[in-house]
Amino acid sequence: MRCGPALLPDTRRRSSDGAGPDESRGERERCHAARGTLDIECRILPEPIERPGRPPLNILLEVRDTGVGMDEAVKARMFEPFFTSKEKGKGTGLGLSTVYGVVAQAGGEIEVDSAPGQGSQFRIYFPLAVAEAEETPPPVSAAPGGLETILLVEDEAGVRALAETILKKARL
Ligand SMILES: Nc1ncnc2c1ncn2[C@@H]1O[C@H](COP(=O)(O)OP(=O)(O)OP(=O)(O)O)[C@@H](O)[C@H]1O
Ligand SMILES: [Mg+2]
Repeated sequence: MRCGPALLPDTRRRSSDGAGPDESRGERERCHAARGTLDIECRILPEPIERPGRPPLNILLEVRDTGVGMDEAVKARMFEPFFTSKEKGKGTGLGLSTVYGVVAQAGGEIEVDSAPGQGSQFRIYFPLAVAEAEETPPPVSAAPGGLETILLVEDEAGVRALAETILKKARL
C-alpha cells in the first residue's frame, strides 16, 4: 500500500523484530499500559472488499484499545482538526485528523467502533498500491552547433583540457 510515514511509524520496528512480516498471518503487536491494552494488527484480506468505481480494499490495519472509549458526541468530531477532549495544553487534536488525511490520500477507509468504557476499535482499510510506470527520460538532443566563439575560462589545467575535449567532441 502507499502511505506517508506519519501513519505507521512503528511498522518498520515491528517487522524488524523477530521473524519479520508474514502476509498470511499478518503482523500483530500488543502493548500493555497501566490504563489498558493496545492491539495493532495488520493483514492482507483473503477476500478484497470491492467498491464501485474505486480500487478494492485489500489491506486491513486494526488498532484496538481497552481505554476510556468515546461517546457519540466525541465520535462525531474525532476526525475534526484541533478537536480534543484533553485538557488545555495536553492534546493538539491533530492525531486523528492526520490519520484521516493519510488514509484518505492512500485511497483507504476507516471504520470506528467505540463506546464509553468499551475502548475503541479502528479498522483501517487500504487498497493495494499500483506501481507507477517508470518514466522514460526524454532523449538527449545534440546541442545545436552554431558559429559562436566560446571562451573557456578555467584555471585548473586538467579541467580546462577536459572541458576543451568535451566541447570539441560536441563540435562546439
Ligand atoms: N483511542 C481513543 N479512545 C478514546 N478517545 C479517543 C481515542 N482517539 C481519539 N479520541 C478522542 O478524539 C479526540 C481527538 O483525537 P486526536 O488524536 O485528534 O487528538 P488528541 O488525542 O486529543 O490530541 P493528540 O493526538 O495531540 O494527543 C481526543 O481528544 C479524544 O476525545
Ligand atoms: Mg490522539
